[in-house]
Amino acid sequence: MKIAIILGTSKSDGNTRKLVESFVEQSGAKLFDLSDFDISFYDYEHENSKDDFLPIIHELLRFDHLVFASPVYWYSMSAQLKVFFDRLSDLLTIEKELGRKLKGKSISVLSTGYNLDLPACFVQPFELTASYMQLEFKGCEYLAVQSESDLGKVTSSAAQAIENVI
Ligand SMILES: Cc1cc2nc3c(=O)[nH]c(=O)nc-3n(C[C@H](O)[C@H](O)[C@H](O)COP(=O)(O)O)c2cc1C
Repeated sequence: MKIAIILGTSKSDGNTRKLVESFVEQSGAKLFDLSDFDISFYDYEHENSKDDFLPIIHELLRFDHLVFASPVYWYSMSAQLKVFFDRLSDLLTIEKELGRKLKGKSISVLSTGYNLDLPACFVQPFELTASYMQLEFKGCEYLAVQSESDLGKVTSSAAQAIENVI
């Protein structure tokens, strides 16, 4: 199974990146860090159609499974990933044919946060989007990081995330 990870975080060497790197190491997945791309807010006029959003979607079509990786920022996905999600609307308007090609793929979520439990409201947008776009939702793996020692759980957490997907 070919797996791509789409990472949106404000800290390119932070906790979520560490979890993602372990996932990549153990699975051979390909990482797309949104901070390496120029993707702007959703535009009703589609004047941003020449930015990096459509090229990244074309690349993602080569994969069977997409992992969305984000820290919990105020109970939600990161702003970087939310901008990416907003732009999925382009695939329902100006690029419908491209959007249809995503159908049948599966997705999952990888996340880190401070609190021991992940709030339900964090996962819902991923589940509901998967359902709306006819993607299979394969779950969410969350690692709470309250101290440096919690980062010792990165390998087992990433392994669990891979097991949920394969
Ligand atoms: C702006 C901001 C908001 C945060 N909000 C939450 C939150 O709502 N719940 C939580 O558990 N942790 C929260 N945290 C803690 C981060 O989720 C946690 O430190 C995470 O591992 C950081 O990942 P990163 O290094 O990829 O940014 C927040 C951190 C920041 C910077």
